[in-house]
Formats: sequence, structure tokens, C-alpha cells
Amino acid sequence: MTSVLKFPDGFTWGAATAAYQIEGAWNEDGKGESCWDRFSHTPGKIPSGDTGDVACDHYHRWKEDVALMKRLGLKAYRFSVSWPRILPQGRGRINPAGLDFYSWLVDALLESGITPFVTLFHWDLPQVLEEEGGWANRATAEAFVEYADAVTHALGDQVKAWITHNEPAVVTWVGYASAGHAPGANDHAKAVRASHHLLLSHGWAVPVIRRNSPGAETGITLNTGWHVPASNSIHDREAARRSEIWMRWFADPLYGRGYPLDLQNDLTEQGTLPRGLDFVLPGDLETIRVPTDFLGLNYYFRTVCRADEPDNEPQTVFPAEKNLDNYTECENWEIFPAGLSSVLKRFYFDYLPPKIYVTENGASYSTPPDASGHVPDLRRIRYLHGHIAACHEAIRSGVPLAGYFVWSLMDNFEWGQGYKQRFGIIWTDYKTQQRIPKDSAKWYTKVINNNAVKEFGE
Ligand code: FCB
Repeated sequence: MTSVLKFPDGFTWGAATAAYQIEGAWNEDGKGESCWDRFSHTPGKIPSGDTGDVACDHYHRWKEDVALMKRLGLKAYRFSVSWPRILPQGRGRINPAGLDFYSWLVDALLESGITPFVTLFHWDLPQVLEEEGGWANRATAEAFVEYADAVTHALGDQVKAWITHNEPAVVTWVGYASAGHAPGANDHAKAVRASHHLLLSHGWAVPVIRRNSPGAETGITLNTGWHVPASNSIHDREAARRSEIWMRWFADPLYGRGYPLDLQNDLTEQGTLPRGLDFVLPGDLETIRVPTDFLGLNYYFRTVCRADEPDNEPQTVFPAEKNLDNYTECENWEIFPAGLSSVLKRFYFDYLPPKIYVTENGASYSTPPDASGHVPDLRRIRYLHGHIAACHEAIRSGVPLAGYFVWSLMDNFEWGQGYKQRFGIIWTDYKTQQRIPKDSAKWYTKVINNNAVKEFGE
């Protein structure tokens, strides 16, 4: 017997994208250069040589894309605004064509009964600001407030859900410390400064958004993962603690706890904080702890943390055997739906945000269209099913989860990995720009219409 996992009435079912990953039109209608334009145009930075110059050409095809979303029955659509489209120089002069684009998009969504969830910063910093030090420069946080003001002033009447930042930890560590993302820096001290300025800009922007968009919900999206020690040994537990650094480093100050002391000590030991937290000025931590209406969480995989100490205990927790049923096509992204319910419970019961949205969850599988033009992406369906069931479990445990956004609406430019990774529930043919809803999209429509998934298979 299968039983039905019913979601609360009004649960928000959506799909997510980000500007640089789908829009293309990188230098049209007055748009300025972003750090991702610069990064992808620099030979060798993205191994495949792919760029977001055209991507899904959404900038020209947004009408068709909104019509598709309507057909899928989406209740909400999370997208991001490209800062350099609005403020080509990062601050100062506003580019009206940039605002027009998003205003038309928002109108079309609302006419289609789809609630826009707008992320202000999903990584594409204006290159001019990057050249002035990027997020390591406190002035970038000030510029962000100007940008947030411009966007929410223009769209604040229509848009009722704002996300200041997407995954500040990834901007920080992957962009400034491990050089995998724009701007491609390799400087841990810079990364830590950047993390603080990202959070500060959030704290400064929230009251501005509230002023321009009364009645809207405002929050921030953090990336999560489920980090477990491979055994109960002190070494493995220490490895898990270190692996989680980025979750607490961002969540603790947002919820009024300041930067975690154990992590400050680690960074000091590593020589990453030569002058301590001298970039944290009086009042900053109060600014960062500004109350918000929701917390957005992105979850994809579990990480089993194993220290390579010679006297370590035998491993007791094993990641699943590596195959495409246990891992997605992203290297080391182990499928572990229970990690999502654990993450949701942990963030809720530790920090007590008023509500939570899963703002991203999904799987990369490159299943192509078959001879009849269908995309039978059964593994993606299985992945989504497991994770949606995990959301239900979290709700049963008391987590005020208000919505779920699948990553992604359509296959798109997957940052450092280019077009190789396909996360979409809609297939994008990059040559013709044809969109084909995959079987997972049809399945998701049923979930939305039923506001439920079945417990076993569907
Ligand atoms: C997240 C990003 C999103 C997408 C997914 C796969 O870290 O926020 O843009 O790339 O990963």
C-alpha cells in the first residue's frame, strides 16, 4: 500500500534559475561587464571554455519561458537580477533598459499566477567593483545597498519575496579562496573579509527593501550540506567540524551569535587572520543580525568526512557505492535525501527562523531526448521524489517549511563546469534554443497539482 504525503495548503512549489546562468545578452542594452563575463572570457578559467554570453538566451525568450512555467503549473519562480544590467558601473547611473527587462518579466509572471522570488545577488558582481577589490572592499557592500534600493524601488510593488544573497559562502570560499569561481582569487584573508562584507550588505539592505517593498518577505539563502564524520573518532569528528565551517560562519552572525569562536581560532592558527577581525567595525554585528522573514536553504548532497590520521578508528559510515543511482553526474555529489530533512531540522531548531524555503535542490543528469523527443530522466525524478519526501518529514517534525524550489527550471550554464552539467527539468538544446520539458517536469506538475507525493514510487 502506498500512502500519500500531503503538503500544507498554500505550500509554494517553484523552480529556480540565476541571471548569469540563463540570460545571455551579456553586453546588450547597456549592460555592464560582470565578474563572470570577465572570468569566463579569460582563457583557462573554465576548463570547457564555455561562457554565459548566450546561455539559454532567456533575455530574448523570457515570454516563451514564462509560458512554459505556466504550462508546468509552477506556483513560484525564483530568478536573480543581474546587478550590471541595472547599474553598469556598479553604482551611480541606472540603466533603464535593465529595469524594464525585469519589470516585464515580473508582470508576465504575475499575469500567469506565478509568484516571483527575486534574488538580488547570485554572483555576477559588476566587474568595475571587482577591480576595486570586490567583496573584500567594504565599499562594495555600500554599492550593494544602492543597487538593492534601485531594484526594490522599481519592483517593490509587484515583488513580494526578496532574497538578498545566494550562497555567500560559495562566493567567499570558491571565488576568493580556491579560485574555482569568479573572480578566481586564491587568498584566504581576502575571502574572510569578503564574507563579512557580504553579510554586512545583507544587513544594510534589509531595511531598504522593507521601505521600498512594504508587506514583502525578505530573507537570505545559504548553502548547506550534510556533513557526517566517517567514524566516531576525534579525528573524523574534527574533520566534519572543519568541513562545516562555512555553514556556521554565515548562519551564526545572521542569527545574532557573531562569528563562531572555534572557527576564528582555526583561521588564526592557519594565519588567515593576521590582524584578527579588524574589518568588523562597531555596530556591524548588530546590522547583520537584522530580523528577516525567512531563511532560504539550498541542499544537494552529503559529505562523509574522513581524516587521514594514521591512528584513526575504522570507518563506520560509508558513502554509497559510486554509480549513477547513488551519485549524480556532479563529482562526489552523493544522493542522500535524509540529509535534507536533517539540515532543515538543524537550521530550524538551532536558529529558529520564522520560516524556511528550500530555495534550491536538484540533480545533474545529462539524459538526452530519445528518438520520440521525450527526455526520460527517471533518475532525476527519483532524486526529486526522495528529497521532497524528506521535506515532508521535516514538516512533520515541526519545521515551518513554506516552499520548495527545484534547481533548475532548465539546463543552463553551470558555472565552472559550463554546459556539461544539466540540472534542468526542461531540456535546453543550446544550438536551436529549443526547450523540451523532461519527464521530471511532467512529474513535478503532478506533484504541484496534487500538493503531494506518494510515499513509494509514483
Ligand atoms: C548552487 C548554485 C546554483 C547552481 C547549483 C547547482 O550552488 O546556487 O546557481 O549552480 O548550485
